[in-house]
Amino acid sequence: MERRYLLRTFGCQMNEHDSERIAGLLTADGYVPTEDAARADVIVFNTCAIRENADNRLYGNLGHLRPLKERNPNLRIVVAGCLAQKDGAGILERAPWVDVVVGTHALPELLALLRAAQTEGPQLDVHEYTEVFPSALPARREVAHHAWVSISVGCDNACTFCIVPLVRGPQRSRPMEDVLAEVRALAGQGVVEVTLLGQNVNTYGRDLTVPGSPRRPRFAELLRRVNEVEGLRRIRFTSPHPHDFTPDVIRAMAECEKVCEHIHFPLQSGSDRILRTMRRSYRRERYLAWLEEIRAAIPGIAITTDIIVGFPGETEEDFRETLEVVERARFDQAFMFQYSPRPGTRAATMPHQVPKEVVQDRFDRLVALQERISLEIMREHVGRTVEVLVEGTGRKGGTQGRTRTNKVVHLPGEIPPGTFVRARIVSAHPHHLVGEPVSAPTSAERSLAAVR
Ligand code: SAH
Ligand code: SF4
Ligand code: F3S
Repeated sequence: MERRYLLRTFGCQMNEHDSERIAGLLTADGYVPTEDAARADVIVFNTCAIRENADNRLYGNLGHLRPLKERNPNLRIVVAGCLAQKDGAGILERAPWVDVVVGTHALPELLALLRAAQTEGPQLDVHEYTEVFPSALPARREVAHHAWVSISVGCDNACTFCIVPLVRGPQRSRPMEDVLAEVRALAGQGVVEVTLLGQNVNTYGRDLTVPGSPRRPRFAELLRRVNEVEGLRRIRFTSPHPHDFTPDVIRAMAECEKVCEHIHFPLQSGSDRILRTMRRSYRRERYLAWLEEIRAAIPGIAITTDIIVGFPGETEEDFRETLEVVERARFDQAFMFQYSPRPGTRAATMPHQVPKEVVQDRFDRLVALQERISLEIMREHVGRTVEVLVEGTGRKGGTQGRTRTNKVVHLPGEIPPGTFVRARIVSAHPHHLVGEPVSAPTSAERSLAAVR
C-alpha cells in the first residue's frame, strides 16, 4: 500500500527550502505526495512565526484536522518550522491530536520522530542546535530549473520586532566548499538558477575560519566563486542587511554576469528615531546613499524592500518620513507589514503600541503610494525586450516567468519551465508585465527544457 503525505508551507524562502527537505525525507522513506487530506497518512504543517496571524492560522488549521484524525487514528499530524520551535509543548497541549512537533534545528530527526510516534505517542523535539544545513538533507524540489541553496542559518542581529533569532538561533555559515559542491551538483542536474539563502547573507562567513588562514570567507568571494560554476545562468540571493552591505559585494554583483540585477534591501522604516528603537543600525540618509551607490554600479538594478508600519511609538511624523523615503527610494516593489507584537521580542513590551485603526490607515496610505510607484516603474518597461526564464503556467493559464530583475512576466501559450525566452513587453501592471516572445527558444534551450 502506497503511503501518502500532504505538506503545507507557511513561511519565507528558508521555510520553503526546509519543506523541500521534509518532502525529500518522506520521499526517501517511500511516501508519495498528495493534495487530498482525507487520503494522507502524514500531514505536515511547516509553520512561520513572524507575525501573529501565523499563530491563529496554525491553530485554525489544526482544528480542521481533528475530525479527520478521529476518523483515521493512523493519520500522523506533524507541526514543523518556526512556530513549532517557538511554541513547542504548547502545541501538544492546545492540540493533543498532533503526533509530532519538530523544531527548526531538529528537522533531520523527522523520520525517527514519526516512527517513535507510532509506538510511543506524541513526540516533541525542539532542541536548539544543529550542524546540519537544510541543503545537506535529501531534497524533493518543486521545479527542476531552480534551486534554493542555504549558505547560512540563523541571525546574530537583534532587531527588536523580530522573532527569527529566537526560532532560528545564532548565525552559522556553511563552509564555502560545501556550498560550491552543492551548486556544481545542481548545475550538473540542469539547474540554471540558484537563490543563495540566509537571514543575513552578507555576514556570511563571519563565524567561519579557513584552515591554515587568518582570513574568514566573505560573501563577495562566495558570489564570485558561484559565478564560475558552469551551466548556471542566474544567481540570486536573499536577503542582505543594509548595515553589512559592503562595497566588495556591490563590486562582485556588478562584475559577475550571472548575478541578477535585483537586490532585496529591507528598509523597515524611514524614521531615524524608529530605526534606532528597532535596533537597525543604519539611518535614512545612509540607506538612501547606499541605493545611489548600488544604482550607479549596476545600471537598471531592481530594488525591493520590506517596511513595517505602526512600530511602537511611531508617530504621524515618523510615518511621513517613511513615506518620504519611499518616494525618494523608488522601490520596484515593497513588502509592507503591519507591526505585530511577538512575545519574547523587545518591542512587544515597549510602551506606546499604536492603535489598530491608526496602523491600518497608515498601511493603506503606504500601499497606495508604493502601488503608484511600482506601476510607474513597470510602465517604463513597455516596449523593451527582456530575457524571461519560464517558471510554469500562470494562475489564469498562459506562461509565467521572471526577468533577471525578478519581475513577473506573463506570456501567451505554454512554454516549458526552464526555457529562456526573449520577450517584448506589451503592457504593465503594478505586480506583473505582459510580454510577447520575440524569438522562439533556441533548439538547444528547447531540448534542455525538455529533459527537465
Ligand atoms: N532576515 C530578513 C527578514 C526576515 S523577516 C531581513 O533582515 O531582511 C521578513 C520581514 O518581516 C522583515 O523584513 C520585516 O519587515 C517583517 N517583520 C518581521 N517581524 C515583524 C513583526 N513583528 N511585525 C511585522 N512585520 C515583521
Ligand atoms: Fe530579524 Fe533583523 Fe535578523 Fe532580519 S536581521 S532576521 S529582521 S533580527
Ligand atoms: Fe521564515 Fe517565518 Fe521562520 S519568516 S525564518 S518561516 S518565522
